[in-house]
Amino acid sequence: MTKIDKKFVIAIDGAAATGKSVLAKGIAQKLGILYIDTGAMYRAAGYYFITKKIPMTEEEILKNIDLINIKLKYIDGETIVYLNGKDITSYIRTEEISMAASNISKNKYIRKKLVKLQREMAGEESVVLEGRDITTVVFPNADLKVFLTASIEVRAKRRQRDLEKKGNYMDIEEVKASLQKRDIQDSTRKESPLTKVKDAIEIDTTNLTNEKTVDMVISLLKERI
Ligand code: DC
Repeated sequence: MTKIDKKFVIAIDGAAATGKSVLAKGIAQKLGILYIDTGAMYRAAGYYFITKKIPMTEEEILKNIDLINIKLKYIDGETIVYLNGKDITSYIRTEEISMAASNISKNKYIRKKLVKLQREMAGEESVVLEGRDITTVVFPNADLKVFLTASIEVRAKRRQRDLEKKGNYMDIEEVKASLQKRDIQDSTRKESPLTKVKDAIEIDTTNLTNEKTVDMVISLLKERI
């Protein structure tokens, strides 16, 4: 582990399956800092509405927003997600919940609640966060801002592999279509759309190993702080 004495924030944004979580997890492990998977929070919110069969209308969201309590815990390097005290970690990585998360994330009240929670969780510690609005909204003054990209073919293969590991087989074309649908939704929405800010470092992970990307980001950080 490399220890850096100064407090810092690393913000990572990018589309689904561009390698954000493995990168953030790798950085957190190497530097011994906190990792916040913000997508997991939107997944938990989406899961709430799907399992309770509540339509995601503004009216219903406002009625339910104070009843949604999301907590992340970190056990052995893994993010454990709690919704109202229940561990829902193993239920939120399906394509149904991916789409539900993308749908609920369009709502400004949900975003406000989760952004506040993310900033509170980060507190005074050094932290790496990943999502869609970290460099633009959550921590626009982060010490290092990274924007990840990768080809749609590689992203679809990665996502298909992740789903398979959890026992969910999906045809590659279906995976691709689902990713592309979310890309459009997440980057064209009115509230905090996914976008690359000018001072973010763009990294294309198509042909990079995770180790290489982790090392690249850590050296960039060291140059800046
Ligand atoms: O990173 P992910 O695939 O787990 O995210 C699921 C969805 O949540 C994503 O399609 C859009 C939304 N999201 C968001 O709007 N803002 C974030 N910071 C993280 C995720």
